[in-house]
Amino acid sequence: MLKHIHLLFVALVTFGFLGRVALAQYRPEMLQQKWIKLSPHILAGLLLLTGIGLVFQGNWLANSYGWIVAKLILMFVFIGLGLMTMREQGQKRWIAFGAALFCLFYIVKVAFTKQAFFFL
Ligand code: HEM
Repeated sequence: MLKHIHLLFVALVTFGFLGRVALAQYRPEMLQQKWIKLSPHILAGLLLLTGIGLVFQGNWLANSYGWIVAKLILMFVFIGLGLMTMREQGQKRWIAFGAALFCLFYIVKVAFTKQAFFFL
């Protein structure tokens, strides 16, 4: 149940980010709307909280928890890259955007493999 809520927030954060990048590029004036400004913080906060809830529910700290630390760190890296995507323009924006998407992909791989360095 909690895992499905976590996954719902993963989807909302992902599509919310894609939507805001599209707005930043094509309709930047819409980003001034209060709910569009506020929602990414609320969604990221709830994603983090459901993740922490899952850690306790699954007693994941009892085993090797490197992957959880990796997810936490990468989530903040993703948020930083997301902010850069929104603030930069031109080529810099797309580099940050690509890096943010890669970060998300990496987090999902870590989530499924439970290995921070799943490629080794
Ligand atoms: C952008 C951020 C995040 C993404 C994309 C993400 C993605 C996922 C996905 C896809 C799963 C399902 C894995 C499976 O079914 O095996 C999952 C589960 C889980 N996530 Fe996250 N997550 C994120 C953030 C976090 C954070 C910050 C934490 C910890 C503080 C966390 C802790 C967990 C835990 C404990 C599970 C349950 C694993 C299981 O029961 O198999 N997640 N996450």
